[in-house]
Amino acid sequence: MVRRRVPLGTDEKLFRSMHRRMLDGPRPAPPWERLDPAGVPDALRERVRRGWAARVEAEYRSMVVFGELIARFPEAGLPLEVSCAASRLLQDEARHTELCARVAEAFGGYDEATLAPGHLRLVDDALPAHLFVARWTASMFCVGEAASVGLLGVLRDGATDPCVASVIDTLLRDEVLHDRFGWALARVVFPRLTDDEREWLGADLAFAFAHYDQMNAGCLRPDGGEVPAAPETPEDPGAVALGIASRWRFAPAFYRRIDEVILPSFAALGVPAYEAWALRHEAVAREP
Ligand SMILES: [Fe+2]
Ligand SMILES: [Fe+2]
Repeated sequence: MVRRRVPLGTDEKLFRSMHRRMLDGPRPAPPWERLDPAGVPDALRERVRRGWAARVEAEYRSMVVFGELIARFPEAGLPLEVSCAASRLLQDEARHTELCARVAEAFGGYDEATLAPGHLRLVDDALPAHLFVARWTASMFCVGEAASVGLLGVLRDGATDPCVASVIDTLLRDEVLHDRFGWALARVVFPRLTDDEREWLGADLAFAFAHYDQMNAGCLRPDGGEVPAAPETPEDPGAVALGIASRWRFAPAFYRRIDEVILPSFAALGVPAYEAWALRHEAVAREP
């Protein structure tokens, strides 16, 4: 199974100029000249590089998912406005991929940012378009994007490097819109489902919860209640300054988003999310 590197860069001028026009827009350019990887100790530099390389892969993966979703919107009968608005989100994920790649590159590269073939093509022909769209709206938007607003807030609070802070500002600003977009899409898509389909969506959601709990918070709160106290080793302030956080810093923000936004919003739309959340340990983490 050949994994594909995240492909960035083209010699074709037209693509380059359209891409720049769409991606740069009104956002401030990060002060790249103020990023100073040479002044960072080797071990920390590698940790920062790995963290940002993982984001390159995740952001590109988001772009792939949005593209696949948009492709099925007409079949699911969604209004033209939804496709048009979603195309802006696809550009945002391209912007995030590029920004994370530039940070990773400064710290030594992102060769390991690759996608398996199964992650480049999501279409499941056994699933009708309305269920395909419902599944990915629930997992990618209503869990993934809704959680990422909280996680980026944690990164933004800690990032003191001016360039990294500016990159995270852009990611966060875009993700706030993606979160809103996701719930708007959910309000259009979920009420069209039958009761049985909403039950199916709830069962499916347990897999997404298992994945995001593992990925964002290392399942630090298995039975509800409080997140346990962090281990003795304090977070390296140098890593925090450069936009890296451990699961111990992410976990409280992740569970807050789950409790305050994600579960109640799903429930208000008739999706049995509390049950899915309780069942997530029985679901094998299936990567959305
Ligand atoms: Fe993103
Ligand atoms: Fe996003």
